[in-house]
Amino acid sequence: MRFWEKLSLRARLGLLYAALLAISVVVVGGYSYWNIWQLFIRNKSCHIRARAKPVIEHWLRDNGLAKADSSLSPLKSQTALLLARDLTSRDTVAIIVNRKGDIIANGKRLPEEPVAPAPDEQYLRRALSGENEVTYRGQVKGKPVLVMLIPLRPHPASARVFGVVQMSTTLADIKAILFRHGAMLVSLMAIILILGITTGFWLIGISLRDLQGLLASCNQISRGNFSKVVSVKNRHDEIGQLALSFNHMLEKLEAAFASQRRFVANAAHELMTPLTGLRGSLEVLLRGAQDDPAAIARLSRGMYKEVNRLIRLCEQLLGLSRLENTVNVCKQPLVLSEFFDDFIARARLLAGERSVVLQPGVDARISADPDLLQQVLLNLLSNALRYSATETLIVISWKLLPQEVEIRVSDQGQGIDAEILPHIFEPFYQGKSVVVSGEKGIGLGLSLAKAMVEAHQGTIRITSEPGEGTTVYFTLPLQ
Ligand SMILES: Nc1ncnc2c1ncn2[C@@H]1O[C@H](COP(=O)(O)OP(=O)(O)OP(=O)(O)O)[C@@H](O)[C@H]1O
Ligand SMILES: [Mg+2]
Repeated sequence: MRFWEKLSLRARLGLLYAALLAISVVVVGGYSYWNIWQLFIRNKSCHIRARAKPVIEHWLRDNGLAKADSSLSPLKSQTALLLARDLTSRDTVAIIVNRKGDIIANGKRLPEEPVAPAPDEQYLRRALSGENEVTYRGQVKGKPVLVMLIPLRPHPASARVFGVVQMSTTLADIKAILFRHGAMLVSLMAIILILGITTGFWLIGISLRDLQGLLASCNQISRGNFSKVVSVKNRHDEIGQLALSFNHMLEKLEAAFASQRRFVANAAHELMTPLTGLRGSLEVLLRGAQDDPAAIARLSRGMYKEVNRLIRLCEQLLGLSRLENTVNVCKQPLVLSEFFDDFIARARLLAGERSVVLQPGVDARISADPDLLQQVLLNLLSNALRYSATETLIVISWKLLPQEVEIRVSDQGQGIDAEILPHIFEPFYQGKSVVVSGEKGIGLGLSLAKAMVEAHQGTIRITSEPGEGTTVYFTLPLQ
């Protein structure tokens, strides 16, 4: 087993294939050899029987053997000798045996005629008891012979057997033919084995070559190189599909790593802006501005703003990283009307002079984390407040769908250009929208909202018409 485990997949498949091929070739070859041997023997015995039958019948009829007693008399053994001689030829010899099992006639006269084997007791008994087709293989001087026993009856339908004709013929000719056939079969089997095993190994090698490509790619990826794509030209089998999926996965991984790198760069850049502002203010203070109370007040306000921005950025980044683990989502049953009654009060506080309208739909229960849901709505509300004029309306509504509830936040603000919309949920992406009220954002609000909705197995989308307004839709599963 240890040796087997040490082998490569290619060697294992190759050996298994070679073993199976060898077994099947040997079984098929052996079976065909045995079949041909049986066929020859059956043919030969049929032929000899067919030749012997009319001769025996003729002698039974013409020589009065049909009326014989259970044992043949000496006179009748003379007749039997004639029958035996008549049945004997250059390749077949006949002997006649009486009921007692004694040989009463042997057909061999000439030296070139074959020698008859001594009758086999066991088979003779079967023939004497009336069995018609007794055929077996015997030996004469170490050479194989085919022996047939034909019972002698007064007439074919009679149950009385008064003797047995033993016909024997050499099998040397069949042996010679079969030897040639066997030699041909063995060489054919060897050729099939050699060809089969070579092509088998070749095919296995081709099939597994792409797997080796996959292995090389995996090694490259472990070293951080994502550009090594596996070539799968003209392969539609499982390995081709595996390589396709692998390449697909590679693309996704590369995109994920690129987005992660972009994210880190953007985060560093966003951290850099307030920090540079802070350093500038501190430098001015250190250079002697501490004696000017007005400058101190101005710089402190500026620094306070930058620190607030830093805190907001850190909070949002923390929020995003927390959402990567769904354990942090504490779902609980929420009644939509109750939740929105609470939320709208808070929203109106934040909106100040602005009008925020709630358009309730059919009431239902959902299962959601109330803090996260509130965070999503606050992010959307803050965008609506930030990017739309003060006199316009902001509408929050919901609609029940078969399995979920769809919540909408729409404004009548400046809207978003169509080419910007596909990127709007990317972290740190900020469109061209002009800040109407409040401070400039960081570009994390919508990506956070998306992450929070997806943590609830929901979906989020945005539609916008430049100059007319924007609506964000998100779904949450019903309880
Ligand atoms: N309701 C809206 N109307 C017009 N533009 C919008 C609206 N909502 C989002 N945008 C555009 O999409 C961009 C991304 O929005 P997002 O909320 O992710 O970031 P942000 O508002 O700039 O910053 P943050 O929300 O992190 O403070 C915004 O910069 C803005 O250009
Ligand atoms: Mg925002």
